[in-house]
Amino acid sequence: MCGIVGYIGNQDTTNFLLDGLKELEYRGYDSAGIALLNDEKIDVFKALGKLENLKEKISKSTLGEYHIGIGHTRWATHGKPTELNAHPHLGEYSYVVHNGIIENYKELKEELIADGHNFVSQTDTEVIVHLFENYENKLENSTEAFKNTIQRLEGAFSILLISKADPSKIFFFKHGSPLIIARGKEEKEVLFSSSDAPLIGLANDVVYLEDGVGGVASTAGIEFFSDDYSWSTLPTSKQFAQKDGFRFFMEKEIYEQSDVVSDCMLGRLNDDEILFDEIDASVFDGIKEIKICACGTSYHAGLTSAYLFERLSKIKCNVEIASEFRYKEPLLTKDTLFIVISQSGETADTLEALKMAKKAGLKSIVVCNVDNSSMTRTADYTILTRAGIEKGVASTKAFSTQAVVLWMLALYIAKAKNVIDTNILQNEIHALREVPSSLMVADKMHEKAKRLSKRYLHGHGFFFIGRDVFFPLALEGALKLKEISYLHAEGYPAGEMKHGPIALADPELFTIALMPENLLYDKIKSNVEELSARDSTICAISPLDFELADDFIKTQKTDHYMLEFFEMLVVLQLLSMEISIRLGNDVDMPRNLAKSVTVE
Ligand code: G6P
Repeated sequence: MCGIVGYIGNQDTTNFLLDGLKELEYRGYDSAGIALLNDEKIDVFKALGKLENLKEKISKSTLGEYHIGIGHTRWATHGKPTELNAHPHLGEYSYVVHNGIIENYKELKEELIADGHNFVSQTDTEVIVHLFENYENKLENSTEAFKNTIQRLEGAFSILLISKADPSKIFFFKHGSPLIIARGKEEKEVLFSSSDAPLIGLANDVVYLEDGVGGVASTAGIEFFSDDYSWSTLPTSKQFAQKDGFRFFMEKEIYEQSDVVSDCMLGRLNDDEILFDEIDASVFDGIKEIKICACGTSYHAGLTSAYLFERLSKIKCNVEIASEFRYKEPLLTKDTLFIVISQSGETADTLEALKMAKKAGLKSIVVCNVDNSSMTRTADYTILTRAGIEKGVASTKAFSTQAVVLWMLALYIAKAKNVIDTNILQNEIHALREVPSSLMVADKMHEKAKRLSKRYLHGHGFFFIGRDVFFPLALEGALKLKEISYLHAEGYPAGEMKHGPIALADPELFTIALMPENLLYDKIKSNVEELSARDSTICAISPLDFELADDFIKTQKTDHYMLEFFEMLVVLQLLSMEISIRLGNDVDMPRNLAKSVTVE
């Protein structure tokens, strides 16, 4: 989720890099840095926080004339947001910027340390530049050294690398994260960026690199390592480019979910175990119970995980809304593990709940998307969700990554406590690997949500219903709709409708029924039948045909209820977004809401 830029040419390299990074800043910015190369030396500038800090630092320095440079804005995944961990990363005589995660960095690091390399940062990225120099020292051929390097890397890595060993070139490679190479409008100019926005106006012809494609560029031209590329024309609107061509950030973020969830799982899934380098397994010693606190969408992720902690980790778990928890004079005992969940890490109520738990001596973990936030600084342990910056006020990809992290954590604890059968664990891990495909937005599904949206603009309210983990999903579906369409919606446990809310049922009451095949299908079916008998208008979401539904969204057949959960999540997000668009609302900035609520 970081941003990358690179420049070769005769214009002002520093300006191109800084302007380019400015365009990418919306993707995340806990630190930024650039490396500038001329025949004699490489100059490097890095700064924590916003790009302005880097600009200020550079404006106070004496700059040379450079014709090659690379730059990066960082969103921390491995290693805290510090200046040392900011990109570009240095070996002895080369620098690299990287977007993605190197899964096998630990093995490589050990090998390189044994070979005499010194590491200064906590990042996975630093291995790339040392590995390159290790080969360069032996082969004395930078292109071969670079090719050898990329062959050894596992995970996701889009990289630009410059080296004093071959100072007229930028080596590039794309795998996983996006990378674009462009022919600049000026003569002999080559530009790089991880998204369109920095290139608009400066280039016409670009190659959107495919995975596994790399090469080497200089003023003499671009040499690709394979034929697997084609040139295309760059769009002309910056606004459009920032949203990667989507109409709204929320839409872009819904579509991104499959990728960010892959990033979130990188390096954390093994064949028969879950790995969390960031937590010490001893944190679970003596723990008899888990207490979760969160707000809004994060609270729904917490509710979902409570089913998983009890079912898989065989540990008692209860979840509270942080603002309620604070003033109820909660009884806190040290055999309780306190987990807070927050996209921003700044929500005042959740932060205060965390402080209370700390004060009472409880061990704490925060599941968070923003490193160095107030909560990550306060909790004993942080698990980052790696969703990248989320711009849409209505949270989407933050939720899916939270749910995945908490599912993995449930399995991690289950294994640590030795309460899970090996076959079940393997089955769960197998299902986790399928989550990115369950989160893919199929054209047909989006079209259907668009078509259906026009039928649900009136009425006196919506009930989203589900059972088990599909109940918190129903709550989340209702919250999404409320937030951006301003229509009244409630999430309800399907089995509870008969104890009151069914009195509301009539054709103007819309029921969105979550009917997974792999979890309590018959139970939810009879709940929906009860509503249908009272003439409620029913939109069923299920892989199984349901003849009583007025509208039906068919999901894929899978063999795990959590895969149904993630696909239905996407359906709900799309449906509320399309309803909101039809109503002419501001999807990304709905009225009365804020992305991060730092007041009580
Ligand atoms: C605000 C946002 C919600 C979010 C909630 C919790 O209300 O509008 O989208 O779910 O805060 O935020 P957090 O950053 O703690 O997850």
